[in-house]
Amino acid sequence: MDNAPLAMNYERDNIQRLDAYAPGEQPQIADVVKMNTNENPYPPAEAVLEAIRSIQGDQLRRYPPPLAGEFRKVAGALHNLDASQVIATNGGDELLRMAITALCTPGTWASNSVEYEKASGKGGWFDKGGGLGQTQPTYSLYDVLANIHDTPVTNVALNDDWSIPDDFAAKLNDAGCRLAMVVNPHAPSGRLEPLATLEAIAQNFRGVLLIDEAYIDFAEHDALPLLDPSRELDNVLILGTLSKGYSLAGLRLGYGLGSANLIATLDKVRDSYNTDVISQAAAVAALGCSDVARANCEKVIAERDRLARALSDLGWSVSPSQSNFLLVKPGIDQPSAQTVFESLKQQAIFVRYFNQARLRDKLRITIGRKSQNDKLLAALKAIL
Ligand SMILES: Cc1ncc(COP(=O)(O)O)c(C=O)c1O
Repeated sequence: MDNAPLAMNYERDNIQRLDAYAPGEQPQIADVVKMNTNENPYPPAEAVLEAIRSIQGDQLRRYPPPLAGEFRKVAGALHNLDASQVIATNGGDELLRMAITALCTPGTWASNSVEYEKASGKGGWFDKGGGLGQTQPTYSLYDVLANIHDTPVTNVALNDDWSIPDDFAAKLNDAGCRLAMVVNPHAPSGRLEPLATLEAIAQNFRGVLLIDEAYIDFAEHDALPLLDPSRELDNVLILGTLSKGYSLAGLRLGYGLGSANLIATLDKVRDSYNTDVISQAAAVAALGCSDVARANCEKVIAERDRLARALSDLGWSVSPSQSNFLLVKPGIDQPSAQTVFESLKQQAIFVRYFNQARLRDKLRITIGRKSQNDKLLAALKAIL
């Protein structure tokens, strides 16, 4: 129509270019076997539900404690740290956003710079440093958050066995990165890096090393020793979450652990009341009975190892996993990962397929309860 108003685009340039985060599907159908978003298959501790039920109207009328003081104290004690070394966040994801906001320089991608074109003969974007360094592949939200902040991203490809290359820190230093994000155990492979590797990165990297331990409750060791003052590392920040090990993905409660200085830096960029009164109470209750979560994680670990053996017996290659999921690849003569993904979906069994380099021939399968894992195995046997 001639008189139709022109559609205005109000977005900043980098938001126009942005591919927003694509979460795994959350199907709203009954009887679904959901093995696509790494949730814990067991319910949270009863004490958590009681804590939520006992919230009073007056607590909701008022603003929540802005610093989540009780949570910081309890989480600190659980990790042998002072409360000043803990920050509570709206899911671990918010800690990632806060670290990028506080540490990375925005606007350091210069578009179509005339000087750059003259100097290099190339058009396009160039990077003035100040950004985020990450491995490839990794948790895809890192990239999205960096792009929202308009800060450059330096990617370093993982080795074939998903280990971090020795020159990771050097490459990030060369690119002028201010923050490195390493997920350990790695997603989506499940590989756990030795502590010595993480320590060497922290020693050699000139920025802050964020170790994303979203899946640590399913692994043999954590990176907490790096926060011991005897190591003299002031640039290590550890991400924790109640989403996986504590079966509380719906609650949105995560946290950061680090030196009191680093935590104070993050506190500066915190939203006014970033965690609500219900999640603070539930999280304190959850940490107070961490043995319940521990027992659930042990069951997940046992099922993970059983499922890994069963998938190997089907002729699939299975990456060794210290997490609550398996990265698996069908055998050469078998249907492709994408075909298997689609067939499973038709049977209401949801697993995760990533259509990207090094992953498009694989599936990531979240460990379910025994009955769910058995259902998956039966469906796979029929498909193969
Ligand atoms: C690698 C990784 N880090 C962090 C998170 C954040 O979890 P949440 O925001 O639920 O605490 C996730 C969630 O799936 C994850 O996979």
